[in-house]
Parts: sequence; structure tokens; C-alpha cells
Amino acid sequence: MEERLRDLQQVMAAHREALAEARGAPNAGAANPDAPDGRLLVLRRLARDIERVSGIEITGIIEAKLARVLSSVDVAELAAWAGRLRLLPANHPEWLSLIEALTVHETFFHRDCAQLDLLARILRETIATAAANGRCCLRLWSAGCATGEEAYTLAILALLALRDAGFADESREGGIVCRPPWQLDVLGTDISRLVLTQAKNAVYATEGLSAFRDLPHELRRFFPILRRPGEAPATELRGVLATVSRHVRFRHFNLMAGSPPETGFDVVVCRNVLIYLTETARGGAQLLLREALRPGGHLLLGPTDALAEPAAYEPCWGAGAVAYALKPPR
Ligand SMILES: C[S@@+](CC[C@H](N)C(=O)[O-])C[C@H]1O[C@@H](n2cnc3c(N)ncnc32)[C@H](O)[C@@H]1O
Repeated sequence: MEERLRDLQQVMAAHREALAEARGAPNAGAANPDAPDGRLLVLRRLARDIERVSGIEITGIIEAKLARVLSSVDVAELAAWAGRLRLLPANHPEWLSLIEALTVHETFFHRDCAQLDLLARILRETIATAAANGRCCLRLWSAGCATGEEAYTLAILALLALRDAGFADESREGGIVCRPPWQLDVLGTDISRLVLTQAKNAVYATEGLSAFRDLPHELRRFFPILRRPGEAPATELRGVLATVSRHVRFRHFNLMAGSPPETGFDVVVCRNVLIYLTETARGGAQLLLREALRPGGHLLLGPTDALAEPAAYEPCWGAGAVAYALKPPR
């Protein structure tokens, strides 16, 4: 949080010069910063713009966070900055810095065992159907992947399912390698560029409430301990085995984009993301997730997420978990 605050303060500082000019500009804000409640009005308008750009619901907690993050900024400067911001595209670095300060990136490997057991079954069935149709490819999308743990978990589960089906082999390094012509492709996307950098690095500390807190012991082999020659690191670090990470790509994507980054996915996972969005944004995001699926493909949502279009899917139940299979078009 401190780091993000500093980022944002840097962004604000970099714009002080431009703001002097913006003060005289007509877009400097319809809200009058000199009015007694001017600051509140500016923050409220900014909150509405944040909802529009990111879909993030401005709850009391987020409102307080926003007020705290911007508390050191003079109200006239804030109004001018917010006025300039609303003219910038959603993927502009200034928007991204602000959204960075407001998003929650909590995640860990093998999150929600019950749902992942169900996913393992779905993957086995998907592989069998694909093989029967001569399609030797599996495509999965982790939408709102944060620092990458979910995307790597999907890749490991898919490799295990391919091995069990006889389409992948154990490797000497302790990984699993697809047997040609089988291909596995996992996409991880997030609105935050910062977390995507960490996801691509694929290095995770093991201490405290770590990314490995729920990882079953037998899956630890996919995360070798990293050691630099002659150096004992202060914290133990684990990397992701290359036989796993070679199947995982990361790219920046805002779920408010209107259409998916790619289509034809066998599985789309969007967990613990929609809860942070407004109802309208949740509906829009779910449309986009549906468009990304191939017919018969499965959607997995977070435990408290309601399905926006139940008629489009067939529920698929596991022990304490549900996924949704997209019905073929009529
Ligand atoms: C709590 S994490 C969930 C990570 C992972 N899916 C899991 O369940 O462990 C939520 C992630 O959603 C991302 N996010 C929030 N709004 C988003 C949006 N409009 N588009 C894309 N990602 C978004 C955040 O940046 C954050 O990394």
C-alpha cells in the first residue's frame, strides 16, 4: 500500500506543472473546489469516473481509501487533476496508478480446493471430448489473475489431467511435458500492470501467510526452491517449473473492455474479482466472459458471485462447488 501511495504521489507531482495550466481550463471541474464541501464533490465525481473506467464499486471502504490516498493534495489541484483524468483513456498510466491504489490483489496457489477438484474433473472430460474430435489443444483463461497463482494452478491441473489421459509424460526434472501434438495454453489477465510483472517473474516467497498456504504437498514439486550460487537468501523463494510456466502467458486486460481479449476458451475462471465491481459492471464482465468461451466450455466464478445469464449455461455440480457449461447456440 505504501508503495502504491508513493507511485500515486509521484504521478500527482509530475503533473503539478500541467495543473497550473489546467486551472484555467474549462474542464478543471464543474464542482467548485472553493465551496465548503468542494473536496467531497470532487471526490464523488472522481469516484463515479473510477466506476466507469474500472467497474470497481466505490464502497465506503474504497471511498475512505481514496480520500486517504489523496488527502495531501490541495482541493483546487485535485479538481484540476480529476478534470484532466476524465479525458484520458482507461489504459492511461495515470488511471492505472489510481486503480492500483484501490484494487485488492489477494490470491494464492490452489485457492478453493473444492472448486479445483471439480475443475480437475471438468478438465478430464474436456480432454476426452477434444481427443474424440481430433482437437489436441486445451485453452484456459484466468480473468483477474493478480500475481499469477491462479493461472499457474490452472496449468498444473491441466498438465496432470493430460498426463492421466495419456497425453503428457512425467519429465526427469519433476515436471510434466505435453506429448505432441497436444498443446496447453493458459492466459492470465489483470487490470493491474504491477501484479502482472510479478506474475511473469513467477517467484514467490514461502514465509508467513504465503502464496503456498493452501498448496497440497504433492504439488510442491512444481515450485523448486531458488538458490543463487554461494548465497543464502534471507527469505526462501520458490519459482515455477519451466515445464509449467512455458504454457502460461500474461497480458493486461480490463474487464470493462466490452469484448474479450481472445475467444475459444475451454475454461474461463473469474474468481474473487466480480465482488469488487458494481452490479452493472458485473453484468458487462459476465457477457464478455461468455463470449470468450467455446460452446460447451466452462465458466467458474467466485463463491458468492451470482450467474448473470443462467439460461445460457448448464450447471455442473461437484462436492461443495459449481461450474457452468455454456450451452451450444440454438
Ligand atoms: C482478489 S484478486 C483475485 C485473484 C484470483 N482470481 C483469485 O481468486 O485468487 C482480484 C483481482 O482482480 C483485478 N481486477 C479488479 N478490477 C478489474 C477489472 N476491471 N479488470 C480486470 N481485472 C480487475 C484486481 O487487479 C485484482 O488483481
